This record gives sequence, C-alpha cells and structure tokens, in this order.
Amino acid sequence: MNPYIAEAVAAMDKVPVSRYEHPGSWAMDPASCRFLAGFVRALGAKKIIEFGSGFSTLMMAREIAPLENNYLLSIDSSPLYSAMAKEAFDGSGCQAKVEFRVAPLRPRFYGPRLLLSYSLPAGLLEALGPFDLALIDAPHLDYGRESVFYDVFRALAPGGYVVLDDANREDMERAYVRSWQAAYEGAIDPILLEGIGNGLGVIEKLSEAGPAYPGKGALTASLKTLNNFGRLLFLPEEQPENTGD
Ligand SMILES: C[S@@+](CC[C@H](N)C(=O)[O-])C[C@H]1O[C@@H](n2cnc3c(N)ncnc32)[C@H](O)[C@@H]1O
Repeated sequence: MNPYIAEAVAAMDKVPVSRYEHPGSWAMDPASCRFLAGFVRALGAKKIIEFGSGFSTLMMAREIAPLENNYLLSIDSSPLYSAMAKEAFDGSGCQAKVEFRVAPLRPRFYGPRLLLSYSLPAGLLEALGPFDLALIDAPHLDYGRESVFYDVFRALAPGGYVVLDDANREDMERAYVRSWQAAYEGAIDPILLEGIGNGLGVIEKLSEAGPAYPGKGALTASLKTLNNFGRLLFLPEEQPENTGD
C-alpha cells in the first residue's frame, strides 16, 4: 500500500472532528476529514490548493499551521460560501496562511470536452505552485470536478497528490477518474478508498505529461455541462441551513 495512505489511515482515528464545528452534509464527511488531515500530515504537505472552501479548509489549515512557509489557496465558485468559510477560518484562531478566492464556474473546452471550469487568470496556479496537494470538493451537483484536475495538474509538484471527494459515484467521480487516466496514462496513479466517507480518490502525480483530452464520453460530458450551466444561471443558490434557535 502507498505509505502515505497507510500512515493517514493509521492516524485518522485520532484526528478530532468537533461535532460543534462540522457544518453538516455539504461538508466533507467526518471520516473523510480525518483521513484528509492525516494525509496532509503524512505527506508533510506545506502548500495546498483546494476547490470547494468550507470545513475542509480548516482541517487542512490546522495541519499545515506549524510548518514554515505554509500556504493554502482555497477557491470557491460562490461568494456566499467563500465568505462563510473565511469567517469560520478567521474565527478559529488558526495561524496558517490561507487565501480565499472566488472564481465563477463557466463552460470551457478541454479538447473535445466542454466542461464547467473555475475561471481563473491563465498561469495563476502555476505561478502560485507547485502544490504538494490539491483537494477537489467542488459543489456536489456535478459542477466543475472533471476540469479541475486538468487545470491543476501542471501546478502540482511531481510526487504531489490530488484528493477527490465523493469518489464512489459511478456516473460522476468514477467517470472523471477514467477520463483523467485516459488523458495522463502512466503519469498518474489513482487509488480509490471506497470505504472512507463517500469514497476518496487519491491520485499521485508521477511525472509531467499530456493531457490528451479523451474523445470518449465527450458528447455526454458536454451536454451535462450545458445542462449544469443552465441550472447554475437560473436556479437560485441554495441558502445555508438556519442552525440557530
Ligand atoms: C461539497 S461543498 C464542500 C466544501 C468544503 N470542501 C467542505 O468540506 O466544507 C462544495 C461547495 O458547495 C457549496 N456549498 C457549500 N455549502 C452549501 C449548501 N449548504 N448549499 C449549497 N451549496 C453549498 C460551496 O460553493 C462549496 O464550494
């Protein structure tokens, strides 16, 4: 087994996840949060990027805080949820260097695949990297998850990792991983941890390569993108649950 994964699995039971802090079903599952924190520690990751700000931001920030030159770039498509994640982080007292950034999701072509993509200035991620770890936890509704890997790959250090949440879903994350394998072939090594939370994909970047964006499934992916972009534009953003009395 991959030694970092083994170390994280061995350590995860001892990682505390406060039920008072964990915001509920939109956040990563508590077991996934425990693994994630253990994995950041096992890797000795200092420089992290995530897509989907929230409770995961705090879990990872707490792990990197004691390390010199730590940095976590947390990107979200929603000004509302980005601000809520920032407020939670600022109130936590954690001293890690965390930068929150809002980037709207827009359709963009990756070869023949039209995908929802976080709009970021070209070259920004490469300029801020190389990152030791990237977390992909974009909105559950099939928004923006496949494209992130293509966007972040070059900004990831060789030997760096991507963690993908909700990796058990057949027509979504499992299909994205198959597309990434087709695009990068032997340059990546994906492992599925089916039994943790809703499944976690842990993907190691072995070397620089590609991508050769796959034609297989491109039409379905593109139609889904158009449908999802319509939902994004015309359905109002779900408001946070009122947890007060
Ligand atoms: C799956 S959530 C996870 C966020 C973060 N990684 C965490 O663990 O808390 C991903 C995205 O969903 C959106 N989101 C968060 N809470 C939400 C809610 N209650 N309703 C709708 N969307 C939400 C935010 O834009 C966020 O980036």
